[in-house]
This record gives sequence, structure tokens and C-alpha cells, in this order.
Amino acid sequence: FATGRAFSEDEVKGKTVVVIDVLRASSTIVTALHNGARGVIAVEDMGDATRIAQNLDSSSYLLCGEQGGVKIEGFHLGNSPFEYEADVVKGRTLIFNSTNGTPTLVRCSGAKEVIIGSFLNAGAVVERLRETTREILIVCSGWKSRLSFEDMLCAGYLLHTFIGADLPDDAPDGAQLADALYKQYGGNLVASVERSNHGKRLAGLGFEADIPYCCTIDKSNVVPVLMDGLFVPAS
Ligand code: MLT
Repeated sequence: FATGRAFSEDEVKGKTVVVIDVLRASSTIVTALHNGARGVIAVEDMGDATRIAQNLDSSSYLLCGEQGGVKIEGFHLGNSPFEYEADVVKGRTLIFNSTNGTPTLVRCSGAKEVIIGSFLNAGAVVERLRETTREILIVCSGWKSRLSFEDMLCAGYLLHTFIGADLPDDAPDGAQLADALYKQYGGNLVASVERSNHGKRLAGLGFEADIPYCCTIDKSNVVPVLMDGLFVPAS
């Protein structure tokens, strides 16, 4: 169990890693793939995004992402899931850069398996996790190395769904914290996420509608998995 950048890249080796960024990168990537995007390349910064784009046919990709919640100048799309409608993304490769979510995905790319998790695809993620015999690491992207309420809450929901009862006594502190958070606030997802730091930041930027959307449970069966540098729906 890890948050922000507080884990070493060695720690992911050999594991199945679930990366959560509820607001909003993981929710937006799930939505984009659900709506038919060909795949998502997660990058650490804008420079990497434009370098990758130079080698692709201009009709095949979209430059996507945000810095501080706001669409990057010159990019096609920002990070609101509502921008990722089927008629915009179908068949396209999305080159995606966000403040915390995509750098976290890049840091986890040395894992045996990397999965993107959110409330939107929680049930399907748990089903996939049931199939693995590997050690599972849940990574909450957070905000600039700090913990994010909504990511911990989603981790708690995944644990709750996966384990189905109380955690074992030797569960790591991070897992216990996430579980306790979900037990406290799980009945009131939207209102509690609206009160979170990033919830308020997004509302201030005019993205308040993104919050109830990103708190919708099991809207999609798509589980994005990393295959040769591209996040694609697991088959
Ligand atoms: C991030 O990567 O930090 C987020 O996705 C930011 C956002 O909400 O756009």
C-alpha cells in the first residue's frame, strides 16, 4: 500500500500494482477506453508527450492532460472525463500527461502488471485481482506527494469489495487506514469527496460535475492494463 511518490520503483517489481487517481486521471482514462480509445500512453511531462506525438500520424492521436487541473495549452483535451466522448476518442491513441496520475503510472511501469483503478471500474478491477496469485500493491496517486482523501477512499472500497469482511490483524497501516476511511465515509461518497482538497480545487475551476461522475461505482467493466507501453482494456 503506497501513496504519492512515497515508494521506490524497486518496490513494484514482480507485483500487480493498482494505481488510483479518482480525481481525475484514472477515472478519465477508464472513460476514454470505455468509449473506444485505442489506448493510452501515460507520460511524465509535456515534453515527453510532444516527443512521442512527433513520431505518430497526426490523425491517430490526441494530446491530453492537465497541469494544476487546467488543460495544457496546445493540447487537444484536458482531464475532464466529459471531454472523452466516443465521437472524439474512438480509435485514437491518447498521449496523456497529468499532475500526479500519469507520473505515478510511469513510476509503476516496472511492475509485473499495472492496472488503473477507480470507482468507475472497481468491480471489474476486483474481479481481475481475484485472478492473480501475485502480491498486490495499491498505489494512491495523491497530490504532489501528499495523501488524497478520494484515492484512499477508493482504495478502501477496493479492499472492502476484495476482502468482504474485516481486514486481517496483520494488514499494513495504509490498508487499515483506507478500510477505516471507507467504513466512515463510504455511505456518503459524493459529499465527502466534494469536501476533499482536490474536490474543492476542481469545483473552483468549474469542474464540480466531474466529482459525482468520478464517484459512480461500476459504470464500466474496462480494466486498463499496461501492454508494451500502452494502457489498453484487459481482455
Ligand atoms: C492528477 O493527475 O493530479 C489529476 O488527474 C489532476 C486533475 O484532476 O486534473
